Formats: sequence, structure tokens, C-alpha cells
Amino acid sequence: HAKYRVAVIGSGNWGSVASRLIASNTAKLPSFYDEVRMWVFEEILPTGKKLSESINEENENCKYLPGIKLGANVIADPNLESAVKDANMLVFVTPHQFVEGICKKLIGKLRPGAEAISLIKGMEVKMEGPCMISKLIADTLGINCCVLMGANIANEIAVEMFSEATIGYRKDKEVANRWAKLFTTPYFLVSVAEDIEGVELCGTLKNIVAIAAGLVDGLDMGNNTKAAIMRIGLREMRAFSKLLFPSVRDNTFFESCGVADLITTCLGGRNRRVAEAFARNGGKRSFDELEAEMLHGQKLQGVSTAREVYEVLTYRGWQELFPLLSTVHEICIGQLPPTSIVEYSEHTPNLS
Ligand code: NAD
Ligand code: 13P
Repeated sequence: HAKYRVAVIGSGNWGSVASRLIASNTAKLPSFYDEVRMWVFEEILPTGKKLSESINEENENCKYLPGIKLGANVIADPNLESAVKDANMLVFVTPHQFVEGICKKLIGKLRPGAEAISLIKGMEVKMEGPCMISKLIADTLGINCCVLMGANIANEIAVEMFSEATIGYRKDKEVANRWAKLFTTPYFLVSVAEDIEGVELCGTLKNIVAIAAGLVDGLDMGNNTKAAIMRIGLREMRAFSKLLFPSVRDNTFFESCGVADLITTCLGGRNRRVAEAFARNGGKRSFDELEAEMLHGQKLQGVSTAREVYEVLTYRGWQELFPLLSTVHEICIGQLPPTSIVEYSEHTPNLS
């Protein structure tokens, strides 16, 4: 029987937790080699030590996941090429803005027959139009790439609180089931859906809605307002996804990757938190500044995703169909004040 070797590309907050989760399974399941190589974007800590060395000495990522042991079979590797060289299952989990550069460095370096999965929430916009991250990985490296998205605030999964996730795949269910086996634990239940675009767009677009929810919090509006923003956001997510990919299924929005991720991110995510601070400052301090101050190296995805989606909307003449998605971007760049998030709704067209 084939035996699988896993490498994780990324070691931020979710990257570290995903490595820990996967390593707990590879240590137990005979079809996987125990060791999980985790590629670390090297940095020097305030102590003068390299992050990768610190992870290997302490079995802990003191910068992005302090206080949590990763498992003795997680090995940090700052060298991208050596981290992936023996692996035939590659887990991509970096902020979406870095993935293209990483993929270019990986061309010609992968083991033949390697499979990938992306845990990355985001998209790229090219001259030819929008490109989902899993497609970017698949096309750049010539490999199959599934996605895993869900209501998965990393710090909660790190301490093994129950959650669910959705794997999106195209055609090959056997491969999707292998990924599900790698990720499933008693506290992390994974289902599979043959709707890769739908699953990935859910994970990507909800970050924009989470910015809107954070603005509502920062304006001290109530729960009803926030729920309204989430409902309108979900409708725009579904409409936008279906316009881009008519194959996207309604059912996907009822999986963990859909409404559940939207809820948890709008209640407890980083996008929400930084957007709340942005609104409390009346939009006078930029998202970049607040991100650097509040997140200590962790990255927001919602602000850049709002810009990317806005490019698609303006290019295709769809802006009027998506007032919430458009307004979030216009607030982020300072073109509109934060209060506009609750002022646009009279213009909301009927999307159903
Ligand atoms: P993070 O935001 O915690 O950390 C940022 C990471 O980027 C660090 O590992 C840092 O070393 C790395 N980095 C900085 N500059 C870089 C560069 N130039 N090149 C490459 N890497 C660089 O990361 P995360 O939370 O693991 O997020 C990764 C993806 O997972 C995102 O798409 C995010 O939306 C998604 N996600 C996150 C969570 C969560 O709760 N954290 C949950 C689900 C999905
Ligand atoms: P934030 O990046 O806003 O923290 O969202 C995390 C997430 O994707 C939860 O599923």
C-alpha cells in the first residue's frame, strides 16, 4: 500500500494549528509517515534566535501560537525546497498574498504525483480575471489541489474545542477522502463536497463580511444590525459565487464552510476585531497600521480580498448588484466613512 508523507507550507496561526492537528493523526495512522515537515518563513525573534530553531527546540511556535505544543513529530524547516522534497501530500496555509511567490519557487521541486490542499482564504485577480488560490496552486505546479474551509478559528482548535470543516474537491472523491482522513479527529469533523469553487468562495468572501460586522461593532450598533449585515453578506456571497461559477451549489452555503464560518468569523475573528478598531477610530488610522499594531505579524485577508473582489465587480459592471461587498472596500480605502456600512441598504437590489 502507498504510504503518504505530509508537508505543511506555512506556520502562522492556522498553519501551526493545522500542523499540530495533522501530526496527531500521522502519528497514529499507518498509511502516513509520522513526521510532518512545516515550512517556516524565517524570522529573527526579539531574543536574537531564529523562529524555526525556536520551534524545534521548544516544540512550540512562540510567535504565532504561544503556549501550545505542536507534537514531537512536527519539524520546522526554513528551507522551502527541503521541506517539500519528499512529501506527496502538500498542505498550503499561508496568507493568500504570498502564495504565488511561494508556488513559483516550488516549480520543478515537487515529488511526482504529489497532491495538494489549500487552507488559504483569498483570491488573486489577474488580467484574465479572478483566480482562486487552489487554481493558482494547481496551474502553477501542475498538481491536483483540493480546499479545506470551515468555521475554524485556529486558537479554539489548538485547545481541541469541537468544530467542523468542509473539503471541496473536483471529481476525485478518493483523494478528497484521503485528505478528510488526514484532518479528521474527534474534535474536528470533516465532510467533503464536490463543489471546490463554492467551498473556496465561501471561505474567501466571508472575510469581507467580517470586516462589515466589525465596523458595525465599532459603531456600537446592536445585534440586529450585525445579523442584518451577515444575512445581506451571505446573500451577496452566494450571488457573487454563482455569477462567477454557475456550478456553485446552494447546499454548500449550509456546510461548515458557509454560514458557520461566516458566523464564527463575524463573532470572533481577526478581521472583525481590526475592523471594530478602525470604526472606533473613525477611519482615521489605516487598516495596515492597526493590523501591525494589533496582530503582531498575523495577517488580515478581508481588506485585500475586498479590493480584489471590487476589481472584479468594477471590471464586470456588477458593482450595483453588490452594495455590501463594494461598500466595505470603499470604507477600507477611506473613500467612505465607516458609518456608510449601515447607510447603503436602501439601494439593495433584489438578488434572489
Ligand atoms: P497568520 O496570519 O497567523 O500569519 C502570517 C504568516 O505569514 C506567518 O507565518 C508569517 O511568517 C508569514 N509571512 C509573513 N511574510 C511572509 C512572506 N513574505 N512570505 C511568506 N510568508 C510570510 O497566518 P494563518 O493564520 O496561518 O493564515 C493563513 C491562511 O489561513 C489565511 O488565508 C487565513 O485566512 C486562513 N485561516 C486562518 C484561520 C485562523 O484562525 N488563523 C482560520 C482559518 C483559515
Ligand atoms: P480571521 O482571519 O478573521 O481571524 O478568520 C479566521 C477564520 O477564517 C475562521 O474560520
